[in-house]
Amino acid sequence: MKKWMQIILLISSVTAAGSLLASGGGEEGGGRQLPAVVNAKWKAECSSCHMAYPPGLLPERSWKKMMSGLDKHFGENATLDPLTRAEIEQFLVANSADKSDNRRSHRIAQSIAANDVPLRITETRYFQGNHDEISPATFKRKAIGSASNCIACHQGAEQGNFSESQIKIPR
Ligand code: HEC
Ligand code: HEC
Repeated sequence: MKKWMQIILLISSVTAAGSLLASGGGEEGGGRQLPAVVNAKWKAECSSCHMAYPPGLLPERSWKKMMSGLDKHFGENATLDPLTRAEIEQFLVANSADKSDNRRSHRIAQSIAANDVPLRITETRYFQGNHDEISPATFKRKAIGSASNCIACHQGAEQGNFSESQIKIPR
């Protein structure tokens, strides 16, 4: 075997073992759940009005656009000091849907047209395809409020866990 072939084989077996370890195997794993990445400033600043949305739910261009318009954030002023803003943006970009090697993130990124820069996860084709059996009336229930309130139904949403065993729709 040629030296370069050995190296490639070595790299791919190490990567495969790594992802098996990370996923824990089985249906719930396999890179299906988003990695539970955390940044203290993100956690503190981006969860005061709603849950902290895991970075793997939107592509880099969406986070950049959002972070450059925090003064007009969905009708709210969510302005941060420049250092905090830069650190959070860096964290979001590094773990964004198009930077992550997670399968769910891949599908989210692929469901967005190249020229589209959605600021809402709930507007992506991926989200809508996964929630088309839930009626608008269900989303409007008092205990839910809107589709944006992931954590009302997905108990593990802030940890990036959207597995079916963790879904409970409040009445
Ligand atoms: C002052 C309150 C406030 C803060 C602070 C805030 N947000 Fe928001 N955010 C909102 C509101 C209001 C909405 C719209 C929610 C709705 O329509 O139900 C929203 C929506 C979002 C959405 C879209 C959710 C969807 O519908 O898919 C994302 C993503 C988001 N925020 C990210 C962030 C990030 C990242 C930060 C931290 C830098 C942040 N938010 C800080 C108020 C806030
Ligand atoms: C009203 C409850 C509800 C809300 C709110 C909700 N979801 Fe869901 N979600 C569901 C249900 C139910 C399913 C399962 C659909 C199915 O299996 O057909 C689902 C499926 C999913 C899946 C696919 C799970 C899988 O294993 O295939 C993802 C990812 C997801 N939701 C993310 C989100 C995100 C992100 C938000 C917030 C922006 C959100 N959901 C808000 C109820 C909800």
